[in-house]
Amino acid sequence: MRIALIGCGFFAQNQLHGWQGIDGAEVVALCDRDADRLAASSDAFGVARTYADAEALFRDGGFDVVDIATTVASHRPLVKLAARHGVHVICQKPFALTMADARAMVAAVEASGKLLMVHENFRWQSPVRAAIDALRSGAIGEPFFGRVSFRSGYDVFSGQPYLAEGERFIIEDLGIHILDIARALFGDVARITATTRRINPKIRGEDVATMLLAHTGGVTSVVDCSYATRRVPETFPESLLEIDGTEGTLRLDTGYRLTIQRGGQTDVRDVSPPLLPWASKPWHNIQESVQLIQQHFVDCLREGRVPETSGQDNLQTFGLVEAAYLSAREGRTVGMDEI
Ligand SMILES: NC(=O)c1ccc[n+]([C@@H]2O[C@H](COP(=O)([O-])OP(=O)(O)OC[C@H]3O[C@@H](n4cnc5c(N)ncnc54)[C@H](O)[C@@H]3O)[C@@H](O)[C@H]2O)c1
Repeated sequence: MRIALIGCGFFAQNQLHGWQGIDGAEVVALCDRDADRLAASSDAFGVARTYADAEALFRDGGFDVVDIATTVASHRPLVKLAARHGVHVICQKPFALTMADARAMVAAVEASGKLLMVHENFRWQSPVRAAIDALRSGAIGEPFFGRVSFRSGYDVFSGQPYLAEGERFIIEDLGIHILDIARALFGDVARITATTRRINPKIRGEDVATMLLAHTGGVTSVVDCSYATRRVPETFPESLLEIDGTEGTLRLDTGYRLTIQRGGQTDVRDVSPPLLPWASKPWHNIQESVQLIQQHFVDCLREGRVPETSGQDNLQTFGLVEAAYLSAREGRTVGMDEI
């Protein structure tokens, strides 16, 4: 499987390492309009074919999959270009700037007959996956309440300065992952109520968001995110879970400790993610999930399956982001049928 990667920035380095760990996959071309970043990735990963311009990359072709690792404003033109050239597409989150863009990208790739997956990797973190698997296997019966929580004071702005500049911050950048975990655990959502705050005066967007979700299957969940939480020890980038079911409870606590209680029995497991050879703490949890979602994409292509976080699926997660901002702005509950 020959892959072309567009966008050789901060996070793409993880994707390039990830591809090196996938049997039968090879990155054959790189594209970035920043010449220094392009050269640095080409040298580091030994990829000789490089392009400053995506049109030229697609004109030359010679790859089956394009992995789009650019920031959101470029996603729609790049995905449409990929659809026109009939290659499979992986696109980073946040998928789109607007719902209309998201729908247009899904329709374009669908019409090309190729696969589109959004690189929505948090549900692939192995501690989160352990909880998803336990829940889906009925370990605590039918869930009726959940909390998915990400609270940190980690400085994400030094690696990703653009995060301080956008009108939207935490829901669009991080909350999108946490909302997607809630969907992976409890299914789609009928309505959402959200509040937002900005605590850090040096950034433009909100850095605290609290969301109440009514899932169509009957679960109520709370999704809460903060980059203004000074806690020791710092828990970045752990997503913590509290789930109550008809037969028991499941907790994913700090330090990657999974506790399942049922019928008077308590089962505690260490579900720490492995530290891959190229990874570094505390990012290793996210870095492992990059390789796992890439493996999932390759497996789906080989077996003719649709990826869990296909473009179509991600319309629901991205829709929750839009609905949360609308709810916070207007101070009301928003039905997903409004989005
Ligand atoms: N899934 C995750 O866990 C995770 C974590 C961090 C970032 N991200 C996402 O990854 C994406 C990239 O983030 P980043 O921090 O690496 O950004 P970045 O700014 O460091 O890198 C983006 C690169 O894309 C290049 N680029 C932009 N538009 C282009 C175009 N049209 N053609 C060619 N090159 C182009 C830029 O020159 C830059 O080098 C964002 O959407 C971000 O939200 C995801």
